[in-house]
Amino acid sequence: MAKDKSLVIKSGSFMTDVQELRRRARSHIEQGAVTEGYRADVDTVLRVLNEALATEIVCVLRYKRHHYMAAGIHATAVAEEFLEHANAEQRHADQIAERITQLGGEPDLNPGNLVGRSHSEYVEGKGLIDMIREDLVAERIVIESYSEIIRFLGNDDPSSRRLMEETLAEEEDHANDLRTLIESLGLDRITRQG
Ligand SMILES: [Fe+2]
Ligand SMILES: [Fe+2]
Repeated sequence: MAKDKSLVIKSGSFMTDVQELRRRARSHIEQGAVTEGYRADVDTVLRVLNEALATEIVCVLRYKRHHYMAAGIHATAVAEEFLEHANAEQRHADQIAERITQLGGEPDLNPGNLVGRSHSEYVEGKGLIDMIREDLVAERIVIESYSEIIRFLGNDDPSSRRLMEETLAEEEDHANDLRTLIESLGLDRITRQG
């Protein structure tokens, strides 16, 4: 396998010549992970990743609010589910912020910009049903927007794309958890009417 690979590099038909790769890696080292081979428009990627970061932070805040409100009305199992999701969204936010810095950008955590940049909304919800339904709506928005981001990244930034794909898979799990929650609580008829 390794033998085949070196042959491919030598032939120059598949990969850039190894000497050229080494030369390029040595120039502009201040750009960190962004090499000359980086094919995406880094400014656009940074803007899109900052929107995803804002989306995650808004989701953390919404789930935290719902966690404490559900705990207050003794809906312990639902409160636990909300907390689990809040923690997952925080992890997503951290991973996206880290990727932004890898690309030489700055994570925008200015509270004043969060709602404007976020794709999902902060809806407090009036009761348990309302909260679960709003969370499901938010997850569905996130699923749509992350799918779009993944299509945009295509093959131009595989690491950002992989991060967003892994995040998307977890958001799909969240949506599924919420749907199951609605069913298990016998709320599906009520929510369908609303
Ligand atoms: Fe998330
Ligand atoms: Fe989520």
